[in-house]
Amino acid sequence: MSNSINRRDALKRGVFSVGALSFLPSLGFAEEFNAPRINSEGNIDHTILFKEHLAPVDVKLRAKLNANENPYGPSPKAMEALKNAANLGNRYGWKSLGELIELITDKEGVSADHIMMGPGSSDLLEKFGLVMFMNGGNIVSADPSYMSMMNVARSVGAEWKGVKLKDDWSHDLEAMEAAIDQDTKLVYICNPNNPTGTITAYKELYDFCSRVSEKVPIFIDEAYLEFIDGKEGKSMVSLLNEGKNVIVARTFSKIHGMAGLRVGYAAALPETLQSIQKITRGGMGITITSIAAALASMKDSAFLTASKAKNKEARDFTYKKLVSMGYEPVPSQTSFMIFPQDQLEGKEFLKRMSAQGVGVRSFQIYDKTWCRVSMGTLDEMQIFIDALGQVIG
Ligand SMILES: Cc1ncc(COP(=O)(O)O)c(C=O)c1O
Repeated sequence: MSNSINRRDALKRGVFSVGALSFLPSLGFAEEFNAPRINSEGNIDHTILFKEHLAPVDVKLRAKLNANENPYGPSPKAMEALKNAANLGNRYGWKSLGELIELITDKEGVSADHIMMGPGSSDLLEKFGLVMFMNGGNIVSADPSYMSMMNVARSVGAEWKGVKLKDDWSHDLEAMEAAIDQDTKLVYICNPNNPTGTITAYKELYDFCSRVSEKVPIFIDEAYLEFIDGKEGKSMVSLLNEGKNVIVARTFSKIHGMAGLRVGYAAALPETLQSIQKITRGGMGITITSIAAALASMKDSAFLTASKAKNKEARDFTYKKLVSMGYEPVPSQTSFMIFPQDQLEGKEFLKRMSAQGVGVRSFQIYDKTWCRVSMGTLDEMQIFIDALGQVIG
């Protein structure tokens, strides 16, 4: 199976929209894109439509807003549970993992054989990617999207078929379905999507998953689901009770504020999990202390509610400030936000923001340079706004 993606193939598959095509010739197309490639400027070319600028390393930051971490976590109850579990560190954590799975099955409304645990959802994305693509094939996803699964798939020889998002930044489900062919092993959907922070409507996505999963399994990454306002924040996990071949990934890194403690899970059909677990085991990588913290955090609904409310407060504050400075941020449903900044080249922008002690991310998405800023505390967001004013004005 070839890894290459050339312009004629892309056009045939309708992978790129008219808007994107207008600038393709000037960029010199038809290279091969393997997982993740650092170019001569020290940036990553994911595709012709999506590049990431890399920031200087070893910078002391006053506001670390570059990894979508939750500034309020872990919950005090989770920290207490973690300390109390330290003396169990000589034991494997299977028993307490069983308790955590029980809590998760209650929440998700599926039985325990539908759950695979991992040290963070990255572990599950990578394990599913390795097993599902070890014999090649292709993966269909949005371009841009969160790259973990696509990077692993490409590394083991699969092809990534990226489909441009629609003008409202939702997934172009019609174009994604059209991109599926006989070699497609998986469709990956990140909802809300990273790095855009935008959602695809629940009903539209549900109908798509319900129908298309009859042809090919669909992996829905719901890392930021809990931050969504209103009714749209429902999980695709209920499709499992209808026997649909979906895989839903969830993490404790975001709303629970436990990124460094590494807990996540995938919910899928038992036969799908068996095919992955024939080759690689879930759960083994999670420490007994992190399991204890996750159990306590799931029961701490006051912390989770406050986490969501404070994130929204930071989001509203940042959005208004950016608009008042003349920027056009994309309304976000997550714990991060993107906005175009075309005054500075991406790498230079990151260098100057780092010099101000502020860590953010910079991407080339379609035909613009974008800053992605994670939601920190209100004080951190003010530091970010002040630094932006200094760097660009
Ligand atoms: C969309 C998405 N999925 C998965 C992850 C991985 O998170 P973790 O491995 O911490 O669960 C992230 C991390 O930022 C993410 O943004």
